[in-house]
Amino acid sequence: MSPPATVPGTEGYADQAASLVGPYEALAFEEVHREELHLLPDSAARILDVGAGTGHDAAWLAARGHEVLAVELVAAFRAAAARLHPSPAIEWLEDALPDLERVHARGQAFDAILLTAVWMHLDEPQRRAGMGRLAALLAPAGVLVMSLRHGPVPAGRRMFEVSGEETIALARTRGLEPVLHARTASVQAANRAAGVTWTKLAFRRRDA
Ligand SMILES: C[S@@+](CC[C@H](N)C(=O)[O-])C[C@H]1O[C@@H](n2cnc3c(N)ncnc32)[C@H](O)[C@@H]1O
Repeated sequence: MSPPATVPGTEGYADQAASLVGPYEALAFEEVHREELHLLPDSAARILDVGAGTGHDAAWLAARGHEVLAVELVAAFRAAAARLHPSPAIEWLEDALPDLERVHARGQAFDAILLTAVWMHLDEPQRRAGMGRLAALLAPAGVLVMSLRHGPVPAGRRMFEVSGEETIALARTRGLEPVLHARTASVQAANRAAGVTWTKLAFRRRDA
């Protein structure tokens, strides 16, 4: 049941965690999630944040009355989160895409699922399996929100060039329809200067 010691996709994060906490925490939720903000539940909801990093998004959501299950594999991120964002409304879980076995074992469905800057770390077989699992975890009226990074790959990380079109086609095979497909510049000045851009996607169930 426990994820393997090194999960494909997380390469580089444990080593670099100390230098990433500050920049992650400096990001403003409303800025990073500008395009999809209006799609998030506006009353208390159950939210799954996969690859939750230092918990800054989870904390923003918890402060607005949501219950958040934050999934993060990197122990140093979870430790930073416990220090920076202690909240009874956030539960932390060590689990991994594509199977999210521990999340799945709980038998819960989520009103919103967030994968912020995570999906492009997965290779094609992981993305195929992961989409099936995410669709199964989504409540009937739920929304799946994800962002894909494009551009130079930071040293030591594993990242793939994943398009919005490919992701939409994959989501459709799982009964999900896009409600958002946008391309944006990075909100971080250094990344913007380096040519980093993002695809923002959101999906709802076709049968909703
Ligand atoms: C760029 S960070 C984003 C962190 C956070 N979502 C944020 O926006 O600050 C990418 C995250 O993806 C997670 N990740 C990478 N591969 C993963 C996998 N196979 N399963 C679950 N999480 C993964 C990493 O642990 C890391 O926390």
